Amino acid sequence: MDHKEVRRYWDENAENWTRLARAGYDVYRDYLNTPAFFAMLPDVKGLSGLDIGCGEGYNTRLLAETGARVTAIDISEVFVRHAKQLAEPGIANIDYQVASAVELPFAEATFDFATGFMSFMDIAETGAVLGESYRVLKPGGFLQFSITHPCFDTPHRRNLRDDKGLTYAIEVGGYFDNRQGDIAEWLFSSAPRQVKEGLPKFKIPIFTRTISQWLNLLIETGFQLEQVAEPRPSDQVVAECPNIQDAQVVAYFLHIRARKPIHGIVSSRKSN
Ligand SMILES: C[S@@+](CC[C@H](N)C(=O)[O-])C[C@H]1O[C@@H](n2cnc3c(N)ncnc32)[C@H](O)[C@@H]1O
Repeated sequence: MDHKEVRRYWDENAENWTRLARAGYDVYRDYLNTPAFFAMLPDVKGLSGLDIGCGEGYNTRLLAETGARVTAIDISEVFVRHAKQLAEPGIANIDYQVASAVELPFAEATFDFATGFMSFMDIAETGAVLGESYRVLKPGGFLQFSITHPCFDTPHRRNLRDDKGLTYAIEVGGYFDNRQGDIAEWLFSSAPRQVKEGLPKFKIPIFTRTISQWLNLLIETGFQLEQVAEPRPSDQVVAECPNIQDAQVVAYFLHIRARKPIHGIVSSRKSN
């Protein structure tokens, strides 16, 4: 399955995803991933950035609020339409465009930084995404992205719970399977049953890479690894949002920042 076929799935998910996320049911994003991502992000005030796979624009808006000038792309026209509806001219400085991360419509060395919030693992052509990110960055610019953790978001995953219903372990398997577009079906687990009733499940094409594949692709592309994080919610955050207690047991997400060296390699890799 390639990125053009993946687009169809995300266009179909986008309407309900936007509605549920804006209603507050994307709790791993709101309570864990987004705060951790911004805590790791260097100061981008006044810089020009590209947000890759922006979805309905929640994180893009936060990025613009930090003072960056942001261009944001997503392969799904429906997501970009929703994102544009919430853009406030003059407040959030965001230029939204429909485009694929695999073929970025920007010249080499256009941006000071690039971000990918939970989008890179949804794209089959991992090498091309990293290559394109590298190409459009200015020398010295950085890429920061978050993905589901390759070691713990595996094709087989089961929460093992104690008699109070608390997760104490995660059973994982199929780590080396290299999935190429199997469809996972789910809705946000924290949305109440009456909200989910009658809604079709999201259909998400799954592509898995091992942690060494991710790191080696970054290195082969020419990036220098700068910082890595595996966010874990504090007890206080879990008290506010008990649904994410399982994210205290293992790392569900991996955040990586990598830099294009000032004297980097000229052409980056384009293959998987
Ligand atoms: C899990 S959502 C994350 C959305 C958003 N960044 C957020 O944090 O809420 C993954 C996003 O990646 C987008 N996507 C998938 N393949 C893409 C591609 N080839 N180019 C650009 N965006 C893509 C999807 O349309 C979707 O909006």
